[in-house]
Amino acid sequence: ERTTARWRPLLHFTPERNWINDPNGLVFFRGEYHLFFQHNPEGLDHANMSWGHAVSNDLTRWEELPVALEPDELGEIFSGGAVVDHDDTSGFFGGGAGLVAFYTSAGEEQHQSVAYSADRGRSWTKYEGNPVIPNPGIPDFRDPKVIRHDPSGAWVLMLAAGDRIMFYRSSNLRDWEHVSDFGSEHGAHGGVWECPELFELPVDSDPDTTRWVLVVSINPGGPAGGSAVQYFTGDFDGTAFTSDGPPQRVLWADEGSDFYAAQSWSDVPDRDGRRLWVAWMSNWNYAGDVPTTPWRGAMTLPRQLGLTGTGAGYRLTQRPVDELERRRTVRRRWHGTVEEGRNERITRGTALDIDVVFRLQSALSFGVEVLAGANCRTRVGYRPDREEMFLDRTAHGRAEVEPAFPAVHTMSLRPEGDVVRMRIVVDRSCVEAFGGSGEAVLSDLVFPDEDGEQVRLFAEEGEVRVESLCVHELD
Ligand code: FRU
Repeated sequence: ERTTARWRPLLHFTPERNWINDPNGLVFFRGEYHLFFQHNPEGLDHANMSWGHAVSNDLTRWEELPVALEPDELGEIFSGGAVVDHDDTSGFFGGGAGLVAFYTSAGEEQHQSVAYSADRGRSWTKYEGNPVIPNPGIPDFRDPKVIRHDPSGAWVLMLAAGDRIMFYRSSNLRDWEHVSDFGSEHGAHGGVWECPELFELPVDSDPDTTRWVLVVSINPGGPAGGSAVQYFTGDFDGTAFTSDGPPQRVLWADEGSDFYAAQSWSDVPDRDGRRLWVAWMSNWNYAGDVPTTPWRGAMTLPRQLGLTGTGAGYRLTQRPVDELERRRTVRRRWHGTVEEGRNERITRGTALDIDVVFRLQSALSFGVEVLAGANCRTRVGYRPDREEMFLDRTAHGRAEVEPAFPAVHTMSLRPEGDVVRMRIVVDRSCVEAFGGSGEAVLSDLVFPDEDGEQVRLFAEEGEVRVESLCVHELD
């Protein structure tokens, strides 16, 4: 415990003890953001799956509450979503409003079940009619997510069924009718489809235009190996999703190794209109070998989503929620030229929010080293010849996770003229890097040595101009 405490993030959610994976039941209700999560309340491994629970009013400070849902005679409690039933369409709340959660009962077969809470998520009652969607003979049949579709006046539930997403409709959140399927011939299929999510987003440059974004987690088959999140842009009419892109097109939300099972918050107030999501910051390839104790698993920072038009179609953009800026304290600024072989030491710190603007010069690659010590460093950088941002954790530290863990992860990013912008959030063992306007994102776990706390700049085979570097400590 003593040796791994330095890897516990300050702002990324971690449970006090034991295992977590996917975020579940994300919903905003009466001033609180709820974060439920896949949790083993009894150990550091994936077992006894339950829904743990935490709440926050600013998305950066979390209060962990007692476990919300525990296994029962139908099985363990796997992933799912939650909504506010404002008008008591379910009849669970005697005319008032309450929270309704959807989850997979994972026993010998996987079925979909419902639970509800009339006391702001503090206590839950499982519906006596469970399961509400019994297994139709499909082995992988899980992760229900529900949205309200106002134009057609119905609730829509989607779930992952092996190689496709199945859509259902309901007027009362209890009786569900299967209405369409999407995906057996679309996107990446290197692994099983899990944890679907669907929302509508305005296009940045033209807020009157909106597209629907269907998000599908896949394990394995991700770009960094193991599990990852893909998405499709398109239309949704309340019944069926149609994709904008050709079937073979694959778009990834984050090409780092540690971003999985992303889910967005339901019922964030319209006045603020934000679409916010969070993901499990780990990878099924090695989640069970993450060397922390007495907890194992973390969430990414909550992120705000946007959609930008490019010549090649619409792309998701992400950035940390604005609330993170309120946690910034000391600021250190720097600008100048970085030459090969002269690593500029800027500052120290293990919880940092970094903004940097580079102007391309001769360097073949350049960037920022974080969590750097005598024998360790993590690099977030850019290769102009490949138009790629990268996150290099080959030398992150001595800790062993699995043989393939030390690796370089990349995502394509075009410079803006000859300028490359990056935002890098460092939080003990979590590094999240956002390139450009957030169209390239790389999120990786790292386990630095005791002295891994420096921030340095580097350039290889030439030099680069740093127009501005701003390093904020996070409190
Ligand atoms: C995704 C997942 C889900 C499942 C849950 C079990 O990481 O495999 O499909 O519901 O984890 O914990």
